[in-house]
Amino acid sequence: MNFAGRDFLKLLDYTPEEISALIDLAAEFKAKKKAGVPHRLCEGKNIALIFEKTSTRTRCSFEVAAHDLGMGTTYLDPSGSQIGKKESIADTARVLSGIYDGIEYRGFGQEIVEELAKYASVPVWNGLTNEFHPTQILADFLTIREQFGKLAGINFVYMGDARYNMGNSLMVGCAKMGLNFTACAPKKYFPDPELVAACEAVAAETGATLRFCEDPAEAVKGANVIYTDVWVSMGEPVEVWEERIRELAPYQVNTALMEMAAEDAVFMHCLPAFHDDKTGVGKEMGERFGRDSMEVTDEVFESERSVVFREAENRMHTIKAVMAATLGAVK
Ligand code: CP
Ligand code: NVA
Repeated sequence: MNFAGRDFLKLLDYTPEEISALIDLAAEFKAKKKAGVPHRLCEGKNIALIFEKTSTRTRCSFEVAAHDLGMGTTYLDPSGSQIGKKESIADTARVLSGIYDGIEYRGFGQEIVEELAKYASVPVWNGLTNEFHPTQILADFLTIREQFGKLAGINFVYMGDARYNMGNSLMVGCAKMGLNFTACAPKKYFPDPELVAACEAVAAETGATLRFCEDPAEAVKGANVIYTDVWVSMGEPVEVWEERIRELAPYQVNTALMEMAAEDAVFMHCLPAFHDDKTGVGKEMGERFGRDSMEVTDEVFESERSVVFREAENRMHTIKAVMAATLGAVK
């Protein structure tokens, strides 16, 4: 398998074998990290981290993974660079390619990271766009594999807005890796038909199944994983909260829903999550709409079935695998 010099922009660009190899590599790095075995495979290299939206997990994962691999990092925050305002993406790509060995980009449209990659002569990694969040899926799948010992055949249910980065990327990931994917939401929140068609074609090869379902009880029957994400994503206007709460409240992950799933079912979330009123937005929206939680109840979030913090840790191990592979440090 040859990863050297490649971008990591969306899972559709990678074969199931390649995705599997990246998850294997992440598991190896995780074991090394736990055992205190150094793995400075990219000693002396440097990477740029462009964030046009805020982040905790993704930024920290790229920075720590880079440092563990022996690399230096530069963080460009949403206001701290010329990108898009005084300098085009194409020019930024060529400037940074002369200075760095790899570039991470988190921002808005997928076309922006695709353009960055087109003009960059070093690997570009997608740290989240409106459409896709591919490094998150690697972490999610490492977590599922640790939990169940396999990916193929797992019944995976995504509750909520399935049209955005998480729903889209999880559907692609499940199709690639042979999971049974269900998106559960009102019809208008189902993913784009063109992407569904692309995933159907992949699923026909891998044995995955795709299902779109409006009834939560039906959706979660036999589910091994119940996954959700925020109802309003970064960059969306605050005005959409009211409609989202009204339309997606019946799709909240709560104890009653978890109890309808398989006995071994786990709860997953990319985070951050609105599971209580201990955040600025959670408190404000909770007070305004009379709720103490949004997409998941605090009870489920804090329950034994919740694997969200291991999932968050796995962001670092999987991002490390993507960087080491595409920078040509491993075969
Ligand atoms: N899950 C995730 O991408 O989190 P951050 O927004 O904190 O990076
Ligand atoms: N859908 C969320 C994912 C955050 C990791 C967002 O884009 O804000």
